[in-house]
Amino acid sequence: MVSYKELGLVNTREMFAKAIKGGYAIPAFNFNNMEQLQAIVKASVETKSPVILQVSKGARNYANQTLLRYMAEGAVQYAKELGCENPQIVLHLDHGDSFELCKSCVDLGFSSVMIDGSHLPYEENVALTKKVVEYAHQYDVTVEGELGVLAGVEDEVSAEHHTYTNPEEVIDFSTRTGCDSLAISIGTSHGAYKFKPEQCHVDPATGRLVPPPLAFDVLDAVMEKLPGFPIVLHGSSSVPQEYVDMINQYGGKLEAAIGIPEDELRKAAKSAVCKINIDSDSRLAMTAAIRKVFAEKPAEFDPRKYLGPARDEMEKLYKHKILNVLGSNDKL
Ligand code: G3H
Ligand code: 13P
Ligand code: ZN
Repeated sequence: MVSYKELGLVNTREMFAKAIKGGYAIPAFNFNNMEQLQAIVKASVETKSPVILQVSKGARNYANQTLLRYMAEGAVQYAKELGCENPQIVLHLDHGDSFELCKSCVDLGFSSVMIDGSHLPYEENVALTKKVVEYAHQYDVTVEGELGVLAGVEDEVSAEHHTYTNPEEVIDFSTRTGCDSLAISIGTSHGAYKFKPEQCHVDPATGRLVPPPLAFDVLDAVMEKLPGFPIVLHGSSSVPQEYVDMINQYGGKLEAAIGIPEDELRKAAKSAVCKINIDSDSRLAMTAAIRKVFAEKPAEFDPRKYLGPARDEMEKLYKHKILNVLGSNDKL
């Protein structure tokens, strides 16, 4: 049993309370490798932002859960080395799908876990989330639950259709489970293909596809039922057109990739939404930068020569999210 506190990590409780009060959201960035982690830490230190490092099931299968935990411990030391005296870094399990997995993460030194029972019948979701909360809270580890189903297809997270969160259920769910935060479904989804082109309209000024708006009425109703309760938005990548264009320019083939407009995320960040999950945008930044090097310097075979630019591009993206979308800068 390792306590996250010994690793210099923090849970989400105080961070979320401050974010709701201050009208900003904490970035929750997924990481799978060293370059992503370096970019996240540098961006958060340079902008003085708290940050949540997320580990998905896919990441654990790819990089090994134990190694990722030690990398997160290293991230705290790296942040200090970069000049941050008091880093506020959470190590969070993204989309935990069983009690056993959440327990193993708590025991390994994670400071926060998500138990995603959103696909289960309501009573089963309540029972599973409650069981995880009872275990995690013994060690002061915070727990994110989920109500409502997000659409979209991701390696480990898939659902054909979304079901918006039912605001009538949120009081019962949060009271009976004791969860610390709640992921809700208001029209976001995982991956780079969040909307079909036929769901969108064309912006006459830019010629670009504009997706239908998020269901802010559902968010408002949830906030009315649970004033001040921390709300989480998954599937919040914006799918920047510049990266899609760059990938396609350098030999890729991404057709009709559409994300959540940043204006909507800015609006959400000012509300009780205090954690915004971003993974796909970082994948796009990395892929765009690597494709550019491969196309422009086909003789290059030192991985540092393409992973370095990829890391720089991700750092730029993370800083942009913190400074211009979530507003979590200057909070350390
Ligand atoms: O919520 C999904 C995240 O983007 C993680 O995706 O399971 O492919 O690592 P992944
Ligand atoms: P995106 O696919 O929109 O980046 O969402 C990531 C996410 O929700 C991780 O849990
Ligand atoms: Zn998610």
